[in-house]
Amino acid sequence: MEIEDCAISLRNLYKVFGPDPAEGMEMISRGDTKDEILESTGNTVGVQDASFDVEPQEIFIVMGLSGSGKSTLLRCVIRLIEPTDGQIYLDGDNVTDMDGGQLRQLRREKTGMVFQQFALFPHRKVIDNVAYGLEIQGVSRQERYRLSEEMLDTVGLSGWEDYYPSNLSGGMQQRVGLARALVHDPSIMLLDEPFSALDPLIRRDMQRELLDLQKRLNKTMLFITHDLDEALRLGDRIAIMNEGEIVQIGTAKQIVTEPADDYVASFVQDIDRAKILTARDVATAEVPMLSQQDSVSSAWQKLSQTDAFCVVVTDDQRRLLGMVYSHDIRANMDNGTVSLEPLPVHEIESVSSERSVEDLFPLLGANSHPLAVTDSDGRLAGVADASSLVNGLVKGEERQTVASQ
Ligand SMILES: Nc1ncnc2c1ncn2[C@@H]1O[C@H](COP(=O)(O)OP(=O)(O)OP(=O)(O)O)[C@@H](O)[C@H]1O
Ligand SMILES: [Mg+2]
Repeated sequence: MEIEDCAISLRNLYKVFGPDPAEGMEMISRGDTKDEILESTGNTVGVQDASFDVEPQEIFIVMGLSGSGKSTLLRCVIRLIEPTDGQIYLDGDNVTDMDGGQLRQLRREKTGMVFQQFALFPHRKVIDNVAYGLEIQGVSRQERYRLSEEMLDTVGLSGWEDYYPSNLSGGMQQRVGLARALVHDPSIMLLDEPFSALDPLIRRDMQRELLDLQKRLNKTMLFITHDLDEALRLGDRIAIMNEGEIVQIGTAKQIVTEPADDYVASFVQDIDRAKILTARDVATAEVPMLSQQDSVSSAWQKLSQTDAFCVVVTDDQRRLLGMVYSHDIRANMDNGTVSLEPLPVHEIESVSSERSVEDLFPLLGANSHPLAVTDSDGRLAGVADASSLVNGLVKGEERQTVASQ
C-alpha cells in the first residue's frame, strides 16, 4: 500500500530513552544488544526499527508483554513521545516534520485517545468529561453539549450525563473514555490497553461494544493490548512486539497457524485453532464438486479416485444444489443417461465459509454426511467432512510443535 493511502504508516521508527540516544542508535547499528546498550550507556531501547501500515478503518492491534514497547510506539504516533529516528505518516501527512501548531491541530482533529486508567476528571460531570476537548477548542456550550449527548447515547450512556465518574462502574467509566475520544469525530483512534483494568466479563462486553461501534463509526483503530484473546477477537491484523521490535504482523489466523518464530509460537500454543480457523480453511474434503451439467461418466471417474459416497452438485453458476449418491451415478453409467441432471439430488447441510470450525463439529452429526461450504454469494467454495476438519486442526498443531522445538 502507498503511504498516501494508509491511515497510519510507520517507517523504521526508533525510540531510545536515556542520557545519550544518539550513542544508543550508534550501538544498535553496530549490532549491540539492548542489554549491552543499557549496561554500558544507561540508554533504554524502547522501540527498535518498527514499520507497519494501517489501512483506513482497520483495527490494528499491537500486542506484546509488559515492557515490550507498545505504549512508547503508540505515543510516538502523535509524538507525545518524540521518536529518536524514523518517519510517521497519518493519512499520508508526515507527522515527523510537523511543528508544534500543526501537531496540536492534528491531535485535536484527527486522533482520539483512550487510556487504560480512563483518566477522567473526577470533579467534572460525565457530560463535561466528554465535552472537555470541544471546550478547549472553543466550541459553544450548546453545541458541545449536543455533540456530547449524542456520543454518550452512542456508547450506551444516555441518562448518565449529570453523574460524576465515581458514581459509575469501571466499564461505564471507560464508555465515557470512549465517548470523550470520539466526540470530535476523529478518523484515527489510539487505544492503549483500554479494557485491561476491567473485570473479564465486563471486558468481553466492552470488546463486543467496540466491534459494534466500529461497524457504525468506521474508525481506524490502533489498539494496544497484552492479551492474546483480545487481540485475536478484535484485530483485523495483529503486530506482535518483543523487546521493542515487531516480530510478526498478520491476521489472527496467520499468527496462530504460521507463527514467525519461537516467541510467537510460545504465545499462541494454547490457542484453540477451532476458534480461529473457518469453514473455508477446512473445506478440503475429497468429495468431488460437479456441475449438474457434467457427465455421469466424468462424475464416476472422479468418484473412483476417492472414498466419497457422493458428489456435491451445483448449477452452471456454481450455486449449490445438493448431493448425488455414488450408487445412483453408478446405476446410470450404462443406460444412456448423459448428464447428472436427471439423477436424484439430496439435501446437504451448507455453512458459510466464514463460520468457525468450532461451530462445524456439531453440524457433522452422526450420519457422516459432508458439509457444503458456500461463499457469501451462495456459490460452492468447498466441502468439509470429519476428516478434513480434523486434518485442518492437526496440521496447525504439527507446525506448531515443530516451531517450538
Ligand atoms: N520515559 C522513559 N524513560 C526511560 N525508559 C522508558 C521510558 N518509558 C518507557 N521506558 C522503557 O521502554 C520500554 C518500553 O516501555 P513501554 O511502556 O512502551 O512498554 P509497554 O509494552 O507499554 O509495557 P506495559 O504493558 O507494561 O504498559 C521499557 O523497557 C520501559 O522501561
Ligand atoms: Mg504500556
